[in-house]
Amino acid sequence: VDSIRVALLGAGTVGSQTARLIVEQADELERRVGARVELAGVAVLDPSQISDPWIDRALLTDQTLELTERDDVDIVVELIGGLEPARTFVLSALNHGASVVTANKALLAKHGPELYEAARKNGVDIYFEAAVGGAIPIVRPLRESMTGDRITRIMGIVNGTTNYILDEMTTKGLDFATVLKDAQAKGFAEADPTADIGGFDAAAKAAIMATLAFHRDVRMDDVHVEGIEHVTDSDIAAARAMNRVIKLLAVVEQDSENGAISAGVYPVMLPADHQLAKVSGSFNAVFVEGEASDDLMFYGRGAGGAPTASAVAGDIVTVARHRVAGTTGPDIPLYSQAPMADAADG
Ligand code: HSE
Repeated sequence: VDSIRVALLGAGTVGSQTARLIVEQADELERRVGARVELAGVAVLDPSQISDPWIDRALLTDQTLELTERDDVDIVVELIGGLEPARTFVLSALNHGASVVTANKALLAKHGPELYEAARKNGVDIYFEAAVGGAIPIVRPLRESMTGDRITRIMGIVNGTTNYILDEMTTKGLDFATVLKDAQAKGFAEADPTADIGGFDAAAKAAIMATLAFHRDVRMDDVHVEGIEHVTDSDIAAARAMNRVIKLLAVVEQDSENGAISAGVYPVMLPADHQLAKVSGSFNAVFVEGEASDDLMFYGRGAGGAPTASAVAGDIVTVARHRVAGTTGPDIPLYSQAPMADAADG
């Protein structure tokens, strides 16, 4: 194999930075992969709107489906987000023999198991490190490194936008609307920020982590969701008066007695000296408790173009190496029939 050809779907906040990493580090990546990693095409809604200097204009197309069907494409990188048409493009890529790298948590939390099965059936990879925790490696540890242990609980801050908003409101006394605009300008928020504010973005990530940790099909609808839209200035002031901090947490766990799995996202008042209380701005932190491993903590930038693109680029390198070697990464076996706990009990 001389080259690994990458089709990029989307050139927004993350897509643009991913293209930059691939193009600017081409020589370095070639040495790491053992083949040239090159862009085969960049699909966007309107090519005339793209002006990033590192994206060759000849590669731009608005024919996205066609790009996923091309024989000369090895890896399709889906960074357009949302359910449809993203699902159609990802399935098309897998069914045409391309491996897929995606950051699309909403898609995986809704249709993940079907996509994992399509990848397995076609003998290709689907990798999604950037779907949870931006730059933080958390998917790979759950999917691979920790599979010799029994995970009991995962708890963390997995939405940068809401953490940034709560943090700025707490430390600077700024109002919600002002900080949200700022978060959007910084590229943390989703295209539709209600997914962040309402807790749905964190819930999607909780579903993905629970699926990997517990080997059970856990979807968005299984997650009990409460966002930060009802957190007021006076709640924040009241928390501060008690030396506490409000954080939006995602918690997934498996009951040691009856095996039931619960998954939820909700605002929590934490003591100010709690480790999660100190996670500021767009940073994320995830605690994983394993029976043998005991507590692990993963921490880093959970949102933003370049940090998220670093995880996407890492997946591209990993998948490219597999293609050069003629192999794939591990399947995602979903054999557990554990019941979901009733949300009302949680
Ligand atoms: N909107 C997401 C966040 C981006 O704020 O965390 C990263 O998934």
